[in-house]
Amino acid sequence: MEYRIIDFAEHGDDTGSLVAIEALKDVPFAIKRVYYIYGTTAHAVRGRHAHKTLEQVIFCPVGSCEFTLDDGGERKTIRLQHPNQGLYLRSNIWREFTNFSPDCVVMVLASEQYDEADYIRDYAEFMRLIAGADKIGKRG
Ligand code: TYD
Repeated sequence: MEYRIIDFAEHGDDTGSLVAIEALKDVPFAIKRVYYIYGTTAHAVRGRHAHKTLEQVIFCPVGSCEFTLDDGGERKTIRLQHPNQGLYLRSNIWREFTNFSPDCVVMVLASEQYDEADYIRDYAEFMRLIAGADKIGKRG
């Protein structure tokens, strides 16, 4: 599955910690958008979509939550619980965010501006697209 955990460098001393994230250096794309999610309820399920082309790095600067990733063949659940830990996701991965701590803030760095046409919000359609992409890959 095409994901990666990025451990951002922490600059810290006994007064606190600092993490700096630079485009094309600490994340592998030029950042065109930043958004964040907060105030999530205990049983919220967010995400439930895949992207056709978007790349993202997701992290929790405060609190923690779980990410269930699905590439059409394999499912994996990852808990992000350190402010310096980022999850790099490429396109064509179905994602669901759950088990938010009450204080959780989810920050997302994205490679493109918001475009609803880049979303796949229907799981059956996602599976069809993945199956189609596999066939094209195998032919080539
Ligand atoms: P959505 O991507 O469905 O959120 P999540 O994946 O966390 O469940 O977006 C929720 C709403 O916010 C939806 O109406 C679209 C809007 N939105 C923007 O306007 N700009 C953005 O950059 C994002 C990510 C969402």
